[in-house]
Amino acid sequence: MSHWLIVGASRGIGLETARQLSDRGERVTASVRGADGEAALLAAAPRATILNFDVRDHAALSAAAAHISDPIDVLIANAGAYGPQRQSSLDMDFHGALDLLSINTLGPLRVVQTFLPLAKRSAHPRIVMMSSRLGSMSLDGAFNVAYRASKAGLNKIAQCLAADLKSEGVVVVAMSPGRVRTDMGGPNAPLDVRDSVAGVIAVAESLTLADTGRYLDYRGEDIPW
Ligand SMILES: NC(=O)c1ccc[n+]([C@@H]2O[C@H](COP(=O)([O-])OP(=O)(O)OC[C@H]3O[C@@H](n4cnc5c(N)ncnc54)[C@H](OP(=O)(O)O)[C@@H]3O)[C@@H](O)[C@H]2O)c1
Repeated sequence: MSHWLIVGASRGIGLETARQLSDRGERVTASVRGADGEAALLAAAPRATILNFDVRDHAALSAAAAHISDPIDVLIANAGAYGPQRQSSLDMDFHGALDLLSINTLGPLRVVQTFLPLAKRSAHPRIVMMSSRLGSMSLDGAFNVAYRASKAGLNKIAQCLAADLKSEGVVVVAMSPGRVRTDMGGPNAPLDVRDSVAGVIAVAESLTLADTGRYLDYRGEDIPW
């Protein structure tokens, strides 16, 4: 049994991850923001330890981490948002875009820095930064600029973390879950959340130090940076 920390588990991919891990008897700690998320998580993963924080709030993160003392084997920094309505390169909601960077790009880094001491105490620590194929610099098109920039930035942070932590045996990857039918992905996305999450879990479990610094999809296939 491994100890998993799932950040952003009130709905969508994070909630399904907590559900699947809990169903097969893993030790799950998962985070939400507020009572509605807590109720949803409790229903899906009744034995999970529930933390409450917003990834923009460093103090709340530190306070939540103080409740956990066991080593964390797998950390999935999954919380994310899509950002403001106006987010083209010619018409940007700058306030909304800055907030999005704090959630999608710096939020996962706040999470990792906060929980890293517990991850380092695992015999085989793995960290998954939940990115998106839309963060790839190789992808054409000029849509959703703030979201794509936020995930491209997250990819660079994942690369740097991987380099900084390799000598300590901590595996770090950026991962895309595919286009998934969730609130964010919408009803027309091709992937069922159960299939995406089954892949995310299998890939996260299989990671070794040889994988650190990779940008992968939920099937374990490399995505061009
Ligand atoms: N769905 C897709 O097709 C797709 C594709 C590529 C990448 N992704 C990535 O996969 C991850 C999960 O996506 P999803 O489809 O499951 O999205 P979702 O259904 O919209 O769920 C987002 C989750 O993130 C949490 N969250 C948002 N902002 C937060 C904040 N400031 N602090 C803490 N938690 C916050 C939400 O909590 P609340 O309920 O409290 O808002 C919720 O639990 C995201 O990083 C997303 O970018 C998704």
